[in-house]
Amino acid sequence: MAQTTRSSTHDAYDARPRDNDPRPAAVDDYFKAHLHAASYNDSLEVIRNNSLVAGLPDIACSPSQAKLLMLQARMCNAKRILEVGTLGGYSAAWFATTSPETKVTTIELDSHFAEVARQNLEKAGLIDRVEILQGLAVDVLRGIEEQVQRGDREKFDFVFIDANKQDNLVYFKAAMGITRERAVIVVDNVVRNGKVSSAEEAEKDDRIKGTRELVEAIGKLDAVDATAIQTVGEKNYDGFLVAMRK
Ligand code: DHB
Ligand code: MG
Repeated sequence: MAQTTRSSTHDAYDARPRDNDPRPAAVDDYFKAHLHAASYNDSLEVIRNNSLVAGLPDIACSPSQAKLLMLQARMCNAKRILEVGTLGGYSAAWFATTSPETKVTTIELDSHFAEVARQNLEKAGLIDRVEILQGLAVDVLRGIEEQVQRGDREKFDFVFIDANKQDNLVYFKAAMGITRERAVIVVDNVVRNGKVSSAEEAEKDDRIKGTRELVEAIGKLDAVDATAIQTVGEKNYDGFLVAMRK
């Protein structure tokens, strides 16, 4: 299945901390209170609430995760950022704050999600830095690759893959074709409550299968260095894969 959808095809994914352990969310709140003082509760946080009110699934990054992604992009001095899976535009908004010169291109299949994201980014005053491309990600990525090959579009410095997990490997390969050397590619949700390490879970859930295909393919690639890190926090037990082109 090749589509970038985040609402209709996934079973309810419990985004709350697991095992009723209050500590991960309390720790996120503590860090946010001290480290996000300037930005927390501002227009970026409004985006998460607007998206829920508009009926989007509660699967956006947490504030700490989104800020970490932006800091990673800033560490790379990223001027061209690509996101696969816009949802309501929350992470795109954070990426848009990487620098005043940074441009974000974000791909979303669902036209309602894309419209909510456009409104959110407009309200946040960031729409001028964000290009929302609505369509099937595989098709949109092919178009982007053609533009890059023709010299009509600059290569990307940083890619965030956060769409339907079944096509993670397709998106990663596409990202390899449209990024510069030393570009960073981050993939969201690679742990999924620990299910990633289970071949049995992959048989039951093609999202786990898609992520395992990606992990195992990257392990055989000479062109990148990669690792993955498990996360807890106000979102469920999950994690990011971080790859860097050599
Ligand atoms: C799901 C997707 C996400 O990108 C995420 O961060 C959490 C959950 C999902 O499809 O269930
Ligand atoms: Mg995600």
